[in-house]
Amino acid sequence: MKFTFQNPVQIIFGAGTLDRLGEAVRAHGTKALVVTGGGSVKRNGTFDRAVASLNAAGVSVVECSGVEPNPRLSTVVRGADLARRKACDVVVALGGGSTMDAAKVMAAVVFFEGDPWEMFPHGQANRRLPDRALPIVTVPTLAATGSEMNAGAVITNEKTTIKSFVTAGCLYPKVAVVDPELTASVPKDQTAYGVCDLITHVTESYFNGVDGTPLQDRIVEGIILTAMEWGPKAVADGNDIEARAQVQWASVVALNGWAQVGTFGPYPVHMIEHTLSAHHDIAHGAGLAIVNPAWMRVAARTRPARFAQFAQRIFGITPKHPDDAEAASEGIDRFEAFLRSIGCPTRLSEVGIGEELLDKFAEDTVLVAHDEEGRLPGRPALTPSEIVEVLRSAL
Ligand SMILES: [Fe+2]
Repeated sequence: MKFTFQNPVQIIFGAGTLDRLGEAVRAHGTKALVVTGGGSVKRNGTFDRAVASLNAAGVSVVECSGVEPNPRLSTVVRGADLARRKACDVVVALGGGSTMDAAKVMAAVVFFEGDPWEMFPHGQANRRLPDRALPIVTVPTLAATGSEMNAGAVITNEKTTIKSFVTAGCLYPKVAVVDPELTASVPKDQTAYGVCDLITHVTESYFNGVDGTPLQDRIVEGIILTAMEWGPKAVADGNDIEARAQVQWASVVALNGWAQVGTFGPYPVHMIEHTLSAHHDIAHGAGLAIVNPAWMRVAARTRPARFAQFAQRIFGITPKHPDDAEAASEGIDRFEAFLRSIGCPTRLSEVGIGEELLDKFAEDTVLVAHDEEGRLPGRPALTPSEIVEVLRSAL
């Protein structure tokens, strides 16, 4: 094993920690661009509490509201312009994954010369990564994306309907204030989608990473088992703060790098899902619940032993031999049944997607991520027609 790893994000975790936001931000600036989404943080009082904590610490607030789900490039540009005009010196993201991703990229666009879409792979010859950003502080109000403690962001270019990603060192937040109480008002469906998202973050590296990573395997399995134990409790009773805390910690650890370090796995399921939510504006976690089991069934054909291990360690299914395709398949069925049991869709028809655009989805997917032969990276690498096959099996 050979790798270099660093995650510099300070995390302040626990019920009630929102009150420490002001002190956390004050260490990095005195005028904060506070980025929010559709208004739930206003309705449930979180925004007012955050502003009170900031003001008490001597931090003034410039508000940037209205980040949409599947955040758009134009919204990012609008926020960056506002931060520049008002001379903000720190960016606070108060919301779910969309809000955090948009806020992180806003912080970089403030200093980025030229077209910010050049940060994102979309088939262009030259990609320019940002190397500087305003300090970022994240306050997630949803347990799902893990964006609060990593250097990635996913943005949709609404003009081209391409949803792409950027990962750059300057996008690491300085601090993540993670208060599970803020997730208590998240509705059942979004809670379930968050559980699916966090599980998919670790199944990607588990199934697509390099061989010989036994500790990473166990970390991933621990995250999945924890999410499967506490996720249904959080869905059943949103006010169960212990369940909310366990799910949220799992969501942080699922994508802060600890589970993936040394595995070097690509994210084929995410890449395919992004094209669905770019075209249809469905919830990311709902799209993953549809794509992941369908992708697993195709991938298991080439690597049954890996999926048999998943079946054994997650669902207690004993394979008859290491390559037991039947055990592998049973594990995938059980996983899909779990997703259904918490309220996730597992078929494209459930979210109103038919077969019309399957070729377009495949084409857009490999535009954003492809190997030298034009295939979607993963184990196995998939040609566009194989991506269509995955999606067709999920109709
Ligand atoms: Fe995700």
